[in-house]
Amino acid sequence: ERGEHEKLLSALNQASLFFQKQLRQHPSRERAVSYLKARGLTGQIAQRFAIGLAPPGWENLLEAMEPYQLPVETLEKAGLVIKREADHRLAEKSPYYDRFRDRIIFPIRDARGRTLAFGGRVLGDDKPKYLNSPETPVYQKNRELYGLFESRQVLRKPTRFLLVEGYMDVVALAQHGINYAVATLGTATNANHLNRLFRIVPEVIFCFDGDDAGRNAAWRALRVALPVMEDGRQIRFLFLPEGEDPDTLVRKEGAEAFEKRLLSASALSDYFFRHLEEENDLSTLDGKARLFKETMPLLKSLPKGLFQRLMLDRTADITDTSRDTLLELLGNTAPAK
Ligand code: CTP
Ligand code: MN
Ligand code: MN
Ligand code: MN
Ligand code: MN
Repeated sequence: ERGEHEKLLSALNQASLFFQKQLRQHPSRERAVSYLKARGLTGQIAQRFAIGLAPPGWENLLEAMEPYQLPVETLEKAGLVIKREADHRLAEKSPYYDRFRDRIIFPIRDARGRTLAFGGRVLGDDKPKYLNSPETPVYQKNRELYGLFESRQVLRKPTRFLLVEGYMDVVALAQHGINYAVATLGTATNANHLNRLFRIVPEVIFCFDGDDAGRNAAWRALRVALPVMEDGRQIRFLFLPEGEDPDTLVRKEGAEAFEKRLLSASALSDYFFRHLEEENDLSTLDGKARLFKETMPLLKSLPKGLFQRLMLDRTADITDTSRDTLLELLGNTAPAK
């Protein structure tokens, strides 16, 4: 509903201004500023991403929002405050408390720059490392890409996007002048994310963390990407050294070396066959049949076009099958889910 959305957006905007102000003024700001500096960020980049601070304490935001006379239910709906359990409610205290406390705040903005949600990182090693806004009437996390607004502010005509895992990856890359990174936020890449990016650029490069989670995410992303691989769209995969993520790597080796790596990122098709060949023994007929069985539904999920044809040919090649056999089998295959 329109009026409600406006109210939520206005509350979120005020909250973002509050958090940014705390990073400039709050007595506890020193620790946060040192933290950001230690991670290689300047005040300028913090400002570009509207990074803020939720100070320690339970009712900072609640109190700061009082002058705006928004119903507290609006703050709750916006994901900013949480209702106390009945038995924790005391007469002298508000029945609500701040969701974000003692954390660095990353606002998540939509393509028009409106703040929809926040991610908050602890300053140390506490758990959870990141706390995120819940889904709200204005925030569906599987629809948003962190950094897209900020990227478009800087690059009028980007030629590609890097899809990374985290807030700090996007911000650290921007700090080094790489302004075309975006992140899905604690959620898997989906076709909607990719279609959004492909409306702007012809190429998307996945660049997940160099750990098991990152490598698994890459294969999952490949599967999701197949149905949107229309001819003319390019997807590539950059695999990082073990233990690195884009943030640690760009800080270690600088933008030039990092961008050099992008030149050698694997084409989707190469990663596709490399992965399947690693998992199946192609020196046996059994292995070929097994690869075939895994491959068919995936190829079936590709849009019809030259790319699908070429992928089929390559599959026929490595399994010593004729294209006709393959096309026949493809007709009897259900597409991958
Ligand atoms: N994430 C999350 N909640 C967590 C852990 C991770 O929402 N408890 C999301 C965050 O968006 C995070 C991303 O998943 O940025 C990637 O996770 P991870 O690689 O563990 O964190 P980093 O982004 O590398 O965090 P940092 O560099 O700040 O340690
Ligand atoms: Mn990781
Ligand atoms: Mn990291
Ligand atoms: Mn990481
Ligand atoms: Mn596999």
